[in-house]
Amino acid sequence: MQELGVILLAAGQGTRMKSALPKVLHPLAGRPLFLHALATAQRLAPSRVAIVIGHGAESVRQTYGADDVAWAIQETQLGTGHAVLCAKAPFADFSGDLLILSGDVPLIREETLRAMVERHRRRKTALTLLTASLERPAGYGRVIRGAAGRVTGIVEEKDASDAQRQIREVNAGVYVASSAFLFAALSTVKNDNQQGEYYLPDIVAVGLAQGKLIESVQVADAREMLGVNTREDLAFMEKNLRERINRKWMLAGVTLKDPDTTYIDDSVTIGKDTVIGPNTQLRGKTIIGERCRIDGTALLTDVEIEDDVELKFSVVLTGSRIGAGAIIGPFAQLRPGTELGRKVHIGNFVEAKAAHIGDGTKANHLAYLGDVTIGRDSNIGAGTITCNYDGFQKYKTTIGDRVQVGSDTTLIAPIALGDDVYVATASTVRQDVPAGALVFNPREEKIREGWTEQKRKQMKGKSK
Ligand code: UD1
Ligand code: CA
Repeated sequence: MQELGVILLAAGQGTRMKSALPKVLHPLAGRPLFLHALATAQRLAPSRVAIVIGHGAESVRQTYGADDVAWAIQETQLGTGHAVLCAKAPFADFSGDLLILSGDVPLIREETLRAMVERHRRRKTALTLLTASLERPAGYGRVIRGAAGRVTGIVEEKDASDAQRQIREVNAGVYVASSAFLFAALSTVKNDNQQGEYYLPDIVAVGLAQGKLIESVQVADAREMLGVNTREDLAFMEKNLRERINRKWMLAGVTLKDPDTTYIDDSVTIGKDTVIGPNTQLRGKTIIGERCRIDGTALLTDVEIEDDVELKFSVVLTGSRIGAGAIIGPFAQLRPGTELGRKVHIGNFVEAKAAHIGDGTKANHLAYLGDVTIGRDSNIGAGTITCNYDGFQKYKTTIGDRVQVGSDTTLIAPIALGDDVYVATASTVRQDVPAGALVFNPREEKIREGWTEQKRKQMKGKSK
């Protein structure tokens, strides 16, 4: 079995993006552009992967994070041909086939890549390139075919004659090449063109001159080979990819009430019979269980939700875990480090941060629960505030099981309330409270009868 290697081109600045950020780092469906094609290529289980970097090299490398690929540095961006040549070293002792991908062509499908590799091997070609027929081919290299319909070359838009620009078949920028042929051919490519660049597709002419077999595969659905050169392309692609992701989840048994306003990142997973309402964004490593209900207007980032959870209208959840059967919202915020047990209720205008809340505990209205651990089956009354910050440091609050915290309570951390504690309404609690105790702030209550009428008379007299 032939070995397969991958070269991903990601050194260009992406001038047409007009951005300080390297093009391949612009996010698409929540993931940097270049990681899309890379993830797809990795599904072909290549034995070696090299990424060519140059512009913003360090940030591209850091974004990738792992060290299971070879990094090839292209100091100056002299063209795609030069870029591939920069990846020669990692493939010095490699004699298999190389799949070459552009970091800015993110929607390419695994099936297409497999079909290319398979055909390349079956037909024993030196080079197999991917083409597509586009309504609007502007910006792409055009495929030139000879009398017998064979590919004879690629001409870049900037070098093309008016007649050549009429050609609608374009080069997708995805290639399979035999490594020995590839690097030898590239070393002979010149830069005598409009852009003064070393063009990778020029190896077509080199191969033909050597009598090599060069063939092409055409994609059925041209959308998968579209490249991102401008922010407009990016927005268009985002829409395309979102549609693809949404379709995938609907086919997997998830109801999207309004797919047009549902934004699901590539990395998210959702269980079946979950129903998702309009204006929902599921980002990052969010995992949603089965039979959950998300009313809508929800922003979830890196959130793990077990089965049968209900998210009522308008919630912002980040870096949290939610146990089965919990009910959150409407209008609630869970901030990073929050972990809710089973059947926890978090109601309207409740904010939780690094809150560990046990099974069956409820905080149904107006509360701030920060840096707190609460046991099970406790009830947190409306207007409860954990005062966790004194302007210098954060402090922890611990609340036991079956605790009743009355409305309008301030808990001055660090503080611990034992199991079965009862906090009277309108208490400010500064000391730890032992299990089973009542805590209250004695204060004198006064009532003055007839006071309102008297006051009104007095004020009326003044306004005359
Ligand atoms: C390229 C092809 C064109 C094809 C199109 C498909 C060439 C000369 N042209 O054009 O035929 O239709 O892709 O999308 O190959 N890169 C580097 N180093 C460089 C130059 C580019 O790493 O010196 C990388 C870029 O980061 C990008 C990829 O190569 O990921 C393609 O470069 P780009 O400048 O976008 O090429 P296109 O003009 O789109
Ligand atoms: Ca491009």
